[in-house]
Amino acid sequence: MPRAMTRTVSIGPVEDTPLGMTLERHLLDRQRRMPEATGDFTGLFQQIMLAAKIIGSRVSKAGLSDILGRTGTTNVQGEQVQKLDEFANTVIVQTVEAGGHVCVMGSEEVENPITIPSQYPQGKYVLQFDPLDGSGNIDINASIGTIFSIHRRVTPPGQGSMKDLLQKGSEIVAAGYVIYGSSNMLVYSTGDQVDGFTYDPGVGEFFLSHPDIRIPQRGGIYSINEGNYHNWSEGTQKWVDWIKTPDENKKAYRLRYIGAMVADIHRTLLRGGIFVYPRDVKNKKGKLRLLYEASPMAFLVEAAGGAASDGKNRILDIQPTELHQRTPVFIGSPDDVADALRFVNA
Ligand code: AHG
Ligand code: MN
Ligand code: MN
Repeated sequence: MPRAMTRTVSIGPVEDTPLGMTLERHLLDRQRRMPEATGDFTGLFQQIMLAAKIIGSRVSKAGLSDILGRTGTTNVQGEQVQKLDEFANTVIVQTVEAGGHVCVMGSEEVENPITIPSQYPQGKYVLQFDPLDGSGNIDINASIGTIFSIHRRVTPPGQGSMKDLLQKGSEIVAAGYVIYGSSNMLVYSTGDQVDGFTYDPGVGEFFLSHPDIRIPQRGGIYSINEGNYHNWSEGTQKWVDWIKTPDENKKAYRLRYIGAMVADIHRTLLRGGIFVYPRDVKNKKGKLRLLYEASPMAFLVEAAGGAASDGKNRILDIQPTELHQRTPVFIGSPDDVADALRFVNA
């Protein structure tokens, strides 16, 4: 090849290390460091990873296939279900149920606990997930995601039950999300640190690209659906008025709101700042779901050095009473969350 034509071939995150740290190897290394590990957790995680690859592949073809658009049905939250929500839900259920690692699952798209068919073994873990988060973004080709959390079962061997699902976030064994964006990433934690893996579609693997993510102590971005201003408490309104107004101690914060919790939290983890979905003063509720949205994200953000509150209590300390329970959320850099809580509790 003439000299002018030589070029280096970019293979993404792989080029940083000779082989690259795959998510698979990362999980196996972790398993080897725990002599009591049976391989169940690694097995479950491999199935989640496979589901993420399948969903990611379909998401990237969404505009080309007839999967795009609405089914015309509503889910248990009374929201319109998009075809991709259903697809993602089915992929996760079918990938995980046969593996023998879980005894019950909970999904945003399914009203009741998802039990494991009797032909498969009942495992020792509990999986909860939001199969497709930010589904309003599908039709406009903006970022969407998948959120998941894993608990240990608390019931005796056999079929899992609601009791296994209604566990506090502080009991989470591992949580993570997959973001389907300009590149696809899987970010997860088992509580000690948070690691991010970028998908290399050429190789078909996730490679460690963001080891040990630490959220900044304070950021410069606030993220909230400000169109709901008229539905907020006075404290929340005063906090937003304050955060976007420069004063002697601070510049005005910038507003960023993607409308998919995964994408808004991903930015918050990497750049710092705060993501808020407050209580609506009319219906007295938050919008986001405790078990498969707020708790896993609170677990990740705390593991990265951040804070997560419902306005009064630590999200991870809330005892769930219902599968699809909603909660207000204030999640992000510790100093930014503390500022917001001062206003809302004044
Ligand atoms: P989902 O698509 O799983 O129902 O979640 C949508 C959620 C969340 O991702 C996002 O942060 C929030 O809804 C956006 O809500 P608003 O459109 O009310 O701002
Ligand atoms: Mn969601
Ligand atoms: Mn969803």
